[in-house]
Amino acid sequence: MAINEDREEHDTFTPPYLHLISAFLAMEPPDVMISLARECGGGFIGDRVQSFIWNGCICEAMKIGLCQGPYLRRVLKKLIAEIESERGVVLDELYEHYAYIMASSKDDNSAEGKSKIVKKISFLFPDDCAKLLSCPKSKKLEVSLQCSLNLLEGDTGCSIWPSSLYLAEFVLSFPELFFNKSCLEVGSGVGLLGVCLAHVKASSIILSDGDLSTLVNMRQNVESNLMHSNTNVPEVNKDPTMVQCVHLPWESATETELRNYAPDIVLGADVIYDPVCLPHLVRVLSILLKGSTPYDADKSRMANQSTATCSGRSFPFLDPCPVAYIAYVIRNLETYNCFLRLTEEANLCVTDMTEAMQPVDLLPYAKSYERSRVRIFSIAYL
Ligand SMILES: C[S@@+](CC[C@H](N)C(=O)[O-])C[C@H]1O[C@@H](n2cnc3c(N)ncnc32)[C@H](O)[C@@H]1O
Repeated sequence: MAINEDREEHDTFTPPYLHLISAFLAMEPPDVMISLARECGGGFIGDRVQSFIWNGCICEAMKIGLCQGPYLRRVLKKLIAEIESERGVVLDELYEHYAYIMASSKDDNSAEGKSKIVKKISFLFPDDCAKLLSCPKSKKLEVSLQCSLNLLEGDTGCSIWPSSLYLAEFVLSFPELFFNKSCLEVGSGVGLLGVCLAHVKASSIILSDGDLSTLVNMRQNVESNLMHSNTNVPEVNKDPTMVQCVHLPWESATETELRNYAPDIVLGADVIYDPVCLPHLVRVLSILLKGSTPYDADKSRMANQSTATCSGRSFPFLDPCPVAYIAYVIRNLETYNCFLRLTEEANLCVTDMTEAMQPVDLLPYAKSYERSRVRIFSIAYL
């Protein structure tokens, strides 16, 4: 099969091939891979697309040490079935690698739910975002995250939830909001936001979680992205000590401990889901948002008009300090209403900013992430 090397290298940097490799490294489901592969081949998964999947995706992932075992098996199975169903010719390398994985991964079925995997999330900045403070020269910010295929591992904190992808896009789309601000995230899970906040140069970053195994995993992710990173983004602040990962269970966090953090901005993604935890979460938010000193309390009452610019558009918004940004998928209306009632009782003002401040779509290949289901609220102390 003749492959034009120059052209292939170029494709990696532009859609739809860029989307195909980004989806593969982020471990998007096989259906998404097939649909992107078809997009690359104009509806058909021919020789050229298959070569790209082999050389540009699979070999590339192996080169950077990403273990794609059971995932790769599912993708290859689906890919081969699709090509064969259209009476296409499957590339020898794809057949051979599939056979190799099948032979060497007899135990993977049982291990799949337990083992950790590494997903590489690529935030792709469109051309019209080049002026954005957060836009790297390469127009791509890559974050590698060790996570679990078991959604419940680490009290749900070892998976990447859609709200954190949305909040990460929000941070990268409105970097002015976070630049030089002290930030604290509750229920941080795998720690994605820590890397994004470091990228937009928040002055200090505290990630927290109530689950200890989640905390261990989070620390590893922060270190591997900010310290051992061979990222192609030199602008990233690579000092891992600027991101602290702390144990902060909402039930037992004391008022003194919380007041000592005194963050300008509190963040939370997908933390509103367990009705039992909600009163504790709202108590934590309320203490953090009240501010630590009378001066902070004054600040929170003062709403400063400021403006964020993105893609040539200006977004005026109120900037109380401290403020919380909480991203949330409304899965259960009762839980959501319970959260609203508790915040009202705690004198917290919740504003839905979803329509007013939509982040740039930096994950156009991540078709499994239902962006439109996520809502974002700002919360301030009245
Ligand atoms: C659904 S996960 C979301 C994780 C991450 N923010 C994301 O969006 O990918 C909820 C997170 O909240 C944490 N969490 C749940 N209840 C908590 C509590 N009572 N105190 C502290 N953290 C808690 C969990 O450990 C988990 O990391």
